[in-house]
Amino acid sequence: MKILFIGDVVGSPGRDMVQTYLPKLKEKYRPNVTIINGENAAAGKGITQKIYKQFLEWGAHVITMGNHTWDKKEIFEFIDDANNMIRPANYPEGTPGKGLTFVNINGTEIAVINVQGRTFLPAIDDPFRKVDELIIQARKRTAIIFVDFHAEATSEKQAMGWHLDGKVSAVAGTHTHTQTADERVLPNGTAYITDAGMTGPYDAILGVDREAVLKKFFTSLPVRFEIDKKGRTQLNGLVVTVDEKSGSASKVERILINDDHPFID
Ligand SMILES: [Fe+2]
Ligand SMILES: [Fe+2]
Repeated sequence: MKILFIGDVVGSPGRDMVQTYLPKLKEKYRPNVTIINGENAAAGKGITQKIYKQFLEWGAHVITMGNHTWDKKEIFEFIDDANNMIRPANYPEGTPGKGLTFVNINGTEIAVINVQGRTFLPAIDDPFRKVDELIIQARKRTAIIFVDFHAEATSEKQAMGWHLDGKVSAVAGTHTHTQTADERVLPNGTAYITDAGMTGPYDAILGVDREAVLKKFFTSLPVRFEIDKKGRTQLNGLVVTVDEKSGSASKVERILINDDHPFID
């Protein structure tokens, strides 16, 4: 069983990369399940129903989110009906949407969980205790569990990786938009990466037009952040190979596609 994960898709440059490369990645890696983090898919801020449906049409099975989940107001109209979309599970009780979903691929179930860190991010419920609760729920149905841990601090992400080693198939970090090169299978069989990276502008700052970000650093004045649509683009992600019965990962491969690291069939 192979799981393909694509890191934070940013705006139309990111969506174009998914449309172009998802078929090629499917051809190359033959994943059974595809998961996309879509928290920045709509102009960098949140997601629309149209984009959500487009991702599913292009072959994604689950869309995960993050701190930008609520940026597009229309999310409140469709999130409760979007069965294949999850938002961080540790938002307070009563928040729309859900943080755990299951996909059934030819009779095999895969659980996908989204949680959000609390270090340098808005205060929400404890992601560690929440993820433990959801794993108990998920385990009743399947041993294959994929966790997208949307967090800023490397320490918090490593802590989550070690905490979940042997309990889930994979812990993939998201949110920083910068891929880390620390992918590994932890000793008890959990695939781990601190951050899967970002899919979108390559010659920008975390996806945002450089001029605006530099102006902010030079002046501290409020500036309007726009997605860079002029520069080159990239796709970041990873592929995890998982034993169907035990849920243990045997292999994790980082995916990095840009002009400096061209895609090889
Ligand atoms: Fe993001
Ligand atoms: Fe984020």
